[in-house]
Amino acid sequence: MHNRSRRRFLGLGAAWSAVLVACRPKTAAPVAEPRALGAAVSSYGSRSPHEKSARFFNQNTKVPLEEASSRTPLHDTYGIITPSSLHFERHHSGVPVIDPATHTLTIHGLVDRPLVFTVDELRRMPSVSRIYFLECSGNSGSEWRGGSTDSDVQRVHGLTSCSEWTGVPVAALLRECGIQPSATWLLAEGADAGKHARSIPIQKAMDDALVAYAQNGEPIRPEQGYPLRLFLPGWEGNTNVKWLRRLKALDQPAMTREETSKYTDLMPDGTARQFTFDMEPKSIITRPSGGDTVAKGAHQITGIAWSGRGTIARVEVTTDGGATWNTAELQSPVLPRAHTRFRWSWTWSGDEAVIASRCTDDTGYTQPRLAELIQVRGMNSQYHNNGIQAWKVAADGKITNGNRA
Ligand code: CO
Repeated sequence: MHNRSRRRFLGLGAAWSAVLVACRPKTAAPVAEPRALGAAVSSYGSRSPHEKSARFFNQNTKVPLEEASSRTPLHDTYGIITPSSLHFERHHSGVPVIDPATHTLTIHGLVDRPLVFTVDELRRMPSVSRIYFLECSGNSGSEWRGGSTDSDVQRVHGLTSCSEWTGVPVAALLRECGIQPSATWLLAEGADAGKHARSIPIQKAMDDALVAYAQNGEPIRPEQGYPLRLFLPGWEGNTNVKWLRRLKALDQPAMTREETSKYTDLMPDGTARQFTFDMEPKSIITRPSGGDTVAKGAHQITGIAWSGRGTIARVEVTTDGGATWNTAELQSPVLPRAHTRFRWSWTWSGDEAVIASRCTDDTGYTQPRLAELIQVRGMNSQYHNNGIQAWKVAADGKITNGNRA
């Protein structure tokens, strides 16, 4: 047994050996272990006081914090699941306080039997649990016009998170209500003060949409829509209406404020792209990244890739600004419409370098360079920037945003 695990250990490869040699302690004995009893059992867990990772939000802004966003510390997360406490937030009129005993979901409009569901009734129906990313379409929006050199992966790209979501398929609820053939759209409305609302094509509702009530094994947290949210796998964050109170079947989109004045992209010719739902394939290196300082030698480059259109098929990493690309290892599980963890072993020589990743999904779409996106979309866009993110490594090892290079 010993021999076998030693062989496996040695089999991890040259890059691993280099990292482990670098890790070998240089001083003698480890610190003494505690000699007194530790803490007792407790009713609700908390993290070590040594861990300080937190959502970032700009407190120095004229935007009221009730309609602001906070960003996931992607640099500090592991694997593909985002802790619920660190899932990014974007609110339009604050987090409402809702009692699940009185909250209901109404389905009406072009249906044979309008129905009102209580939260308890929904929790007792057959459910599914699926791991999906959720990304705000404004994620990476600062980079359209060249981001700040001191911005880090959390500030630039922290509006994406990934969770296991549990809920009831919307299709089952619509069938229960007798959805009519003339129904082509659904208006989804939240119970927040501003009644955030979006129109959703009926095909998506019948395909994989959920009325979700749980996230990562616990009831959805208030800032993620407690007690109910619409979940549309792979679609832009704001369509996943939180605090869901109403689904109305319509024969045309409702043209709500959030799909006319907002969440559209102004094109160079003055027209606007509207109903841009899919979040396109995208990847980012999370470690090492902006704000880190690396030493010469072996590094594991790691990051996440995702596609709202399907499953990540390939991730490539460059360390020479895109001249050559290397195939990264995808860490299982690799799931449709979920974050996918990738890694690639890099030995840094000490010369200036530009590192970046690009992904390809199973539809064959490859993440474009930002310059290629700008050629098509111009410079007026705020949303849907899935361009390749570059990090610049200076000769002293300091890493900054490389999108301006
Ligand atoms: Co959009």
